[in-house]
Amino acid sequence: MDKPMSDSHFKLMSFGYKFRDFFLPRMNVLKEAGIKPGFHVLDYGCGPGGYIIAAAELVGKSGKIYALDIHPLAIQRVQSITSKKQLTNVETICSDCKTGLPDKSIDVALLFDTLHGLSEPNEVLAELHRVLKPNGILSLSDHHLKEDEIRTKITDKGLFRLLRKGERVYNFSKVG
Ligand SMILES: C[S@@+](CC[C@H](N)C(=O)[O-])C[C@H]1O[C@@H](n2cnc3c(N)ncnc32)[C@H](O)[C@@H]1O
Repeated sequence: MDKPMSDSHFKLMSFGYKFRDFFLPRMNVLKEAGIKPGFHVLDYGCGPGGYIIAAAELVGKSGKIYALDIHPLAIQRVQSITSKKQLTNVETICSDCKTGLPDKSIDVALLFDTLHGLSEPNEVLAELHRVLKPNGILSLSDHHLKEDEIRTKITDKGLFRLLRKGERVYNFSKVG
């Protein structure tokens, strides 16, 4: 399975995301994912937590955000954001695939800018399929991949079908 990138690479990436998030606030992206108050959302490959504040706001106090990453620095960053902003609805998970979450417990799984780097994408997709509710959404963007690569990788095993292509994200629905 995957190994975390070096700490220096992670810090450089996090620095770059500060500019990205300044010029295109993450709320604008998340609005396309269809997150509603009370939803349980898994941010798979959360990185330094660019989506966390906006996601926590969208689900509200009755909802929950699970922020998962393979990198311990990502987990530290998200924990620091949640304590600074006093977010009580965010939980972190350090993992390279398994979430430890119950079957059919997640309304929306976010896979933003992460698919291209997964060495075992089908294992991760099977885990996301397991935790998603029957009408759950996998919301995805990946500027490293072309549209046909994204569609093929996600729908190839018959676990997801394309529901909607938005301006910035693809929303897939769970099959079965
Ligand atoms: C390019 S960053 C994207 C971060 C975030 N989603 C965003 O768009 O702001 C990809 C993240 O995926 C994480 N990652 C890579 N392989 C992983 C795996 N197998 N399981 C969980 N996280 C992984 C990396 O540590 C990194 O933080």
